[in-house]
Amino acid sequence: MKDIYVFAIETSCDETSASIIKNGNVDVATVTSTQIDIHKKFGGVVPEIASRNHSAVITMVFEECLKKANLTFNDMDAIAVTYGPGLNGALLVGVEAAKALSYATNRPLVPVNHMAGHIYANKFSGDFKFPLLALVVSGGHTELIYMEKEYSFKKIGGTLDDSVGEAYDKVARVIGIPYPGGPEMDKLAQVGKHSYNLPHAKNDKSYDFSFSGIKSAVINLVHNETQRKREINKEDLATSFQETVVDILVKKTERAIKEYEVKQLLLAGGVSANSGLRKAIKEVCNNLGVSLLMPELRYCTDNASMIGAAGYQAYLKGDRADFSLDPNPGLDLDKEGV
Ligand code: KG4
Ligand code: ZN
Repeated sequence: MKDIYVFAIETSCDETSASIIKNGNVDVATVTSTQIDIHKKFGGVVPEIASRNHSAVITMVFEECLKKANLTFNDMDAIAVTYGPGLNGALLVGVEAAKALSYATNRPLVPVNHMAGHIYANKFSGDFKFPLLALVVSGGHTELIYMEKEYSFKKIGGTLDDSVGEAYDKVARVIGIPYPGGPEMDKLAQVGKHSYNLPHAKNDKSYDFSFSGIKSAVINLVHNETQRKREINKEDLATSFQETVVDILVKKTERAIKEYEVKQLLLAGGVSANSGLRKAIKEVCNNLGVSLLMPELRYCTDNASMIGAAGYQAYLKGDRADFSLDPNPGLDLDKEGV
């Protein structure tokens, strides 16, 4: 069978990334230019600055990616691009670049949902076994997605307020860790002990989550201790926060695995890099005898490789966009296809 090459583009937040993916699971070349250092001084991503920086580097990122792969656009079968969810102006840079490329190269334009991308980052770890459940935990989302077959998505639960990544970043900020604080919190959590009592919200029968309560509890705790001129033990606070959050995620996921009788669990999204979550989920899957896929650490946070892996499936399915494609910042992942 002829090899299929997808040229993939990701610009939904603060990474400008291009990738060439062969047959949906071979990462031929990926180039990512991150803006994290630019946004750090603002304590979070500034949308207008993100768009401007995507525009400034996107052509270079494309050229470097082709050079790395030693291929040209003539070797590509499709152009896949993230068109949502994400920041409108940031998405627009990728979508417009993809349209121009598709027009110039006469290759089909394949629209990809960023969250489908996070799920499909697992194609670089192993084969999918259906039906499966994906726990998607990122800076913008916290969702449980049921997949009966390839590239079909049904949301069975999600957060009612903050995402896990958002809660991590905000809690990190109040204890003086710069954006994005999740990875550093994870490091601190590995050396502290669980000594602060934090609330478990939405401890109910639904598959929905809520993280604003635990976030506010930590913020209040830090403010109260500071007012009393008492030191916060950052490591212990990080451990208490991480263990509570992981417990909330793992309990609902375990119940969903049983109820939906899935064969496999996938972890996805930036927070899937979290050491505590990876360890706890592994234990649950081992105990239940369910297969588990987790993305390699380099595929956890935003990258175009995952968009190429999802884009390959979308291409096979026949998903196509024309030149009227616009970004969809609030795009949901709850239907067949994109
Ligand atoms: O998926 P992602 O790159 O961007 C979105 O699509 O939102 O996720 C970024 C999020 C940030 O909130 C970051 O702090 C968090 O993932 N993150 C982590 C870890 N690594 C990244 N959170 C907890 N532990 C980690 N090891
Ligand atoms: Zn993401």
